[in-house]
Amino acid sequence: MNILLLGSGGREHALAWKINQSPLLKKLYIAPGNPGTQNLGENINLSPNDFQQVKQAVIKYGISMVVVGPEDPLVNGIHDFFLSNNELKHIPVIGPTKKGAMLEGSKDFSKGFMVHHGIPTARYQSFKAQHKNEAIRFLSELKSPYVLKADGLAAGKGVVICESLSEAKENLNYFFDGAFGEAGKTVIIEEFLHGVEVSVFVLTDGKSYVILPEAKDYKRIGDGDTGLNTGGMGAVSPVYFFDSNFRLKVEERIIKPTIKGLKNEGIDYKGFIFVGIMNVNGEPYVIEYNARMGDPETQAVMPRLKTDLLELFVKTANQELHNATVEFYDNATVAVILVSQGYPGTYKKGIEISSTNSEPQAITFHAGTVINPNGTLVTCGGRVMASVGIDKDLKAALNIAYSNARGINFDGKYYRTDIGKDLLKQDLP
Ligand code: AMP
Ligand code: GLY
Repeated sequence: MNILLLGSGGREHALAWKINQSPLLKKLYIAPGNPGTQNLGENINLSPNDFQQVKQAVIKYGISMVVVGPEDPLVNGIHDFFLSNNELKHIPVIGPTKKGAMLEGSKDFSKGFMVHHGIPTARYQSFKAQHKNEAIRFLSELKSPYVLKADGLAAGKGVVICESLSEAKENLNYFFDGAFGEAGKTVIIEEFLHGVEVSVFVLTDGKSYVILPEAKDYKRIGDGDTGLNTGGMGAVSPVYFFDSNFRLKVEERIIKPTIKGLKNEGIDYKGFIFVGIMNVNGEPYVIEYNARMGDPETQAVMPRLKTDLLELFVKTANQELHNATVEFYDNATVAVILVSQGYPGTYKKGIEISSTNSEPQAITFHAGTVINPNGTLVTCGGRVMASVGIDKDLKAALNIAYSNARGINFDGKYYRTDIGKDLLKQDLP
C-alpha cells in the first residue's frame, strides 16, 4: 500500500517510524514531513490544510490510505472532503469527519457530549459574552482554583487556571474581549480536578476499538511543573497507576460510552481518540478529548506498540477492529523534548544541529528541524527534537533518553531534567 501521512511534527516522525516497519507498506509519503521522516519515505512539500493539493498528491502517487496527524485538517473537514469527492471517496482516511473532530474542536460540544452520555467529567457551564453576569455568578459558586477554557481551538493556549476569583473575572473579560478570537467568545467554566493526568489512546472504527499504550505528558516549561504551558516537554509510558483495575474503569465508564455515544449521534468515527484523563483518588474523569494522537506522547507510545500499526489502520477502515488484538512490548519509554532557548516565547531559528543521536538504544524524532540550502540540519521551531529512551524499565529508559539528549548539540538547547522522575516514586499525591 502507498500511504500518505499528513503532518510535520515529532508525532508524525514517530507514526512514520512505526508505519515504515509494516510489511503491508509499499511506499510512505509524508506531507510536508521533516528531515527525520525523509529517511522513512518521501516528503511532499504541501500543506495538509490545502485539500486540493492533498487530492492531487493522492492521485499522482497512487495513495491507498491517508493518515492525518494533526487536528487542524480534521476540524477543517478533510475526511468530509474525501467522502464528498468522486475521485477520493474510496480512499480511507484515518481521522474523524468534521463532526467527530468536534470532540476536540469545540469544548462546549465535548462537555455536552460527556454529560449527555454519562461520562465522568468536571462539573461545568458554558457562557457566551452576552451572559457575563451569569458567568460571574457561576464562578462565585466554585472553589479556587478556577478553570476557564476557550470553546474552540486556541493552539493549546485556550485553558487558564486562576487561583483567585478576581483573576478569574479578569481572564473572563480577556476571553470575551476576543483574546482568542472567535474560539474564545464562548467560555467553559469548570470545577478544578485534583489528581494525576494520564493520556489514553483509542483507535476506533466507529463500532469497535483498541487501546494503545498509555502515557503521561509534561506540559510546563520548567522542572517541577513550573512556568509557562508548552506543547509538551516530555512523555513517559507506561504510567504505573494505569493498572488493570484503573484501565477497566476507564474502559467501562469512558471508552465504551464514548464509542456508543458517537454511534448514537450518527457520527461515523474512524481514527484516534486521545482521552485526557484525571485520576482523582483512583477514579477517572475526562479532562478533554482530542481527535488525534498526542505530541509528545506518540513518540513514547509508538516504540511500545508491538502490533503492526498499518494492519490496525486497515482494520479501522474496514470496520474490522473487533478482530484485532493489540500487543505492547513489556518495556518502558521516556521522551525528552529538546527545545529552542526562549520557547514557548520567542526563539531564534536556523541554529545548526551538530549531532542528532549519540546512544544506539535511543531514537531521535525530529520536529522543528529543517535542512537548509547548503545541506546543514538547523532548527526551525520551538520543539526541535525528541530524545526517546527505550529499556526494560522506566529508570533505565530515563538514563538512555537523557544520555542521548546530552549528546544532541545546538546552541540554546534546553530540556527539562525531571521527565518521568515523579513516576519513579510510584505513589499518588
Ligand atoms: P485541556 O486543553 O482541556 O487539556 O487543558 C489543558 C490542561 O489544563 C490539562 O491538561 C490539565 O492539566 C489542565 N486542566 C484542564 N481542565 C482541568 C480541570 N478541570 N481540573 C484540573 N486541571 C485541568
Ligand atoms: N500532549 C498533548 C497534546 O498533544 O495535546
